Amino acid sequence: MKLGCLFSELEEQGLKNDLEISDRSYKQLNITKDTGEFLTFLVKVSNTKTILEVGTSNGYSTLWLAAATADTGRVTTLEIQQHKIDQAKVNFERAGLSEKIEVLGLDAAEFFKQAGDQYDLIFLDAERIEYMSYSKDIISTLRAGGGLVCDNAISHKSEMAEFMRFIKGCNNFVTSLVPVGKGEFVAYKSA
Ligand SMILES: C[S@@+](CC[C@H](N)C(=O)[O-])C[C@H]1O[C@@H](n2cnc3c(N)ncnc32)[C@H](O)[C@@H]1O
Repeated sequence: MKLGCLFSELEEQGLKNDLEISDRSYKQLNITKDTGEFLTFLVKVSNTKTILEVGTSNGYSTLWLAAATADTGRVTTLEIQQHKIDQAKVNFERAGLSEKIEVLGLDAAEFFKQAGDQYDLIFLDAERIEYMSYSKDIISTLRAGGGLVCDNAISHKSEMAEFMRFIKGCNNFVTSLVPVGKGEFVAYKSA
């Protein structure tokens, strides 16, 4: 299926679903389309090859990330809810991008404890108040020269405040708050 058509379908379906469903665990809570375009810009301009995403949902943002990488690019994405993993896998197949994506049914905190690899880009879009608890692991899992992007940095500023303060306080990080979508906190890790 053409990616543009799939994005449009998921955008419409996600908004409708989130309006109609009150149970938060069944909401899609997708990034906005302009956030997808912003992520595309970041991945392409930095020639990012390895991406870690925390919070897959139905795979909408994962598709933006995977589509933006070059042929050898790979996305690992973490999701704790099995029904969302199942939806995401269907969407990855429909987009023809399954080969580039590994979806793991793991809690982020557990994953970071045993993460062996380092990533060029880490995209955080899960439970914001938990980020601080694995902040040191996030930093060590990001390679020097890589970038961290966190969604909801403006829409949920208070929940993100401590984590953003922590990253800003690290000597080897340069940060910026970008008013795209729900607000993207970006941080570059220097050597
Ligand atoms: C905001 S949604 C992600 C939306 C997705 N990034 C998109 O834009 O299409 C957050 C997701 O993170 C998942 N999640 C929450 N806490 C998590 C954790 N500790 N580890 C992995 N996934 C988690 C939730 O189940 C939920 O599906």
